Amino acid sequence: MSTQHSATNSARSRIRTPVEIHSQFREDVATGLRRSQKTIPPKYFYDAPGSLLFEQICQQPEYYLTRTEAMILRDHVADVVDVVGNCTVVELGSGSAVKTRLLFDEYQRREQALHYVPIDISASMLEESARTLTTIYPRLQIDGLATDYWHGLAALPHAHTRLVLFLGSNLGNFTLAEQDQLFTQLARTLQRGDYFLIGLDLRKPIAVLEPAYNDAAGVTAAFNLNLLQRMNRELGARFDASTFAHHAFYNMDQHQVEMHLRSTVAQEVRISALEMRVAFDAGETIHTEISRKFEPAEVRAQLASHGFTPRAQWADAREWFLVSLFQYTGAAPTA
Ligand code: TRP
Repeated sequence: MSTQHSATNSARSRIRTPVEIHSQFREDVATGLRRSQKTIPPKYFYDAPGSLLFEQICQQPEYYLTRTEAMILRDHVADVVDVVGNCTVVELGSGSAVKTRLLFDEYQRREQALHYVPIDISASMLEESARTLTTIYPRLQIDGLATDYWHGLAALPHAHTRLVLFLGSNLGNFTLAEQDQLFTQLARTLQRGDYFLIGLDLRKPIAVLEPAYNDAAGVTAAFNLNLLQRMNRELGARFDASTFAHHAFYNMDQHQVEMHLRSTVAQEVRISALEMRVAFDAGETIHTEISRKFEPAEVRAQLASHGFTPRAQWADAREWFLVSLFQYTGAAPTA
């Protein structure tokens, strides 16, 4: 018996970190907090405590997204595998990969070998899910990439057919311009015949949307406020989280939920690693996230312009959430 225990690198599971995220965090915070509307990119929510809090958000009764998407996948994962067949599964923002297991179950049932390339900004989450998955699925080979989507896509291993998963309506956390960059990079990375499976949260009444980002147990608030604590831990900042409030609302004109951290008092906060003091007026906010809500025809048109052809789509009975399968055909229609 081997006396070596390596959580991250076993025969069937390898995790690489193509770039160091920490120095980017410093730079992005320094830049974002100097803007007139202070802002921090949402990928920095997902340090180890933040990733755990996000898993808890997914279990809140108000947060219908995860549950609804999982239900759609459960009902249609066999249809996905019928179309896609043997492939390497690449996942953008894999998190705990609980929903992805539905897909692995189907491949396992068909006794097909499976190669999985999860890309996640949280190395701890990646390690833990790799450990769990290799235990459950004896046929699964994992090549994880602990980085953001951009660096992850640039470092993808070669594969015959790929199925790229982009679940949880994570697309909504990008602005339209960033979405365009992502589709451009995807098109550049994929080969003709590869597949793209995307989960999209659809437009719906504000009475459903706002509670999903303001759960009664306060988990989303804790998740948002963890960003301040992360700056304290990693950048020597002196944020007092009790002087900030979680603020999330639906912007109907933009069709997006917006999340902010609002300073309840006028104050100045020191960030020692950046040799910087940040001034807040009472009521001033740091914009931490958007979550756009989609019109399916718009996304189809945007993907079509990047060479993606729709193959199938499935929604729940209330049409709250949509899972769409596209194939990269490379032939962008000319105007
Ligand atoms: N993709 C998820 C969403 O837009 C991410 C998310 C859910 C999230 N709740 C959040 C991100 C709260 C930050 C804060 O719904």
